[in-house]
Amino acid sequence: MARVAIVTGGTRGIGEAISLALQEAGMTVAANYAGNDERARAFTERTGIPAFRWDVSDHQACLDGVAEVAAALGPVDVVVNNAGITRDGTLLRMTYEAWKEVIDTNLGGCFNMAKATFAGMKDRGWGRIVNIGSINGQAGQYGQVNYAAAKSGIHGFTKALAQEGARFGVTVNAIAPGYIDTDMVAAVPADVLAKIVAKVPVGRLGQAGEIARGVAFLCGEDAGFVTGSTLSINGGQHMY
Ligand code: CAA
Repeated sequence: MARVAIVTGGTRGIGEAISLALQEAGMTVAANYAGNDERARAFTERTGIPAFRWDVSDHQACLDGVAEVAAALGPVDVVVNNAGITRDGTLLRMTYEAWKEVIDTNLGGCFNMAKATFAGMKDRGWGRIVNIGSINGQAGQYGQVNYAAAKSGIHGFTKALAQEGARFGVTVNAIAPGYIDTDMVAAVPADVLAKIVAKVPVGRLGQAGEIARGVAFLCGEDAGFVTGSTLSINGGQHMY
């Protein structure tokens, strides 16, 4: 039986590439998305991967969404917590809402999805959870106290849950992408982005597929001895 995987934020950007990489690895994939029905429909038509709409910051919605995926495709063996948002701004300008939205989605989403799937993985003696962190959670970033805190939290969450999952065959790892060529990075003002890219030793933005191939490795049958790790894929921008 093919493993069943959920990729949150799985219809666009890095998430779309991850959905495709897991499909190519032979998994049955469900792509979660939050709001863009049109992009999700186009994604499903193009890839054959079903898309399921719920908000990962909503705890009950995650429990219900995972149950819906399991009813349609089978018990969930693999979760990739990729859904993430930015609400950039310096602390002086950042609203409480911008703080809370980013923490609840980027970090809260990991907790909610793990709560919805971990017990089943434990009972079946096999599971893979991969959390998408960020270089900005490792190094900080001007204008991103919310995002950096959430992503840094993801790295701690990963190491703690890895310790809980190890004896049940459930591995938990993180990937820390650098600046990848997606809509999220395209939203950074061009002059600011040019200065950032100038500091990347490889000299360019990353491609979504370069993150997705790392995720596919960590989700594979052969990666059972890799847990609690963070794989940095950032063109050498931050060596950590
Ligand atoms: N360190 C120190 N000072 C800095 C700085 C830095 N890194 N960046 C800017 N400043 C200074 C500027 O020089 C400027 O100073 P002066 O007024 O004295 O000239 C001051 O801070 C204000 O800078 P801005 O004009 O940029 O301020 P703003 O309020 O217009 O914009 C901002 C602030 C929205 C945060 C903008 O700087 C920005 O968008 N920065 C990019 C944030 C970023 O990298 N986001 C990543 C999104 S993608 C992502 O997150 C994916 C991932 O995981 C990698």
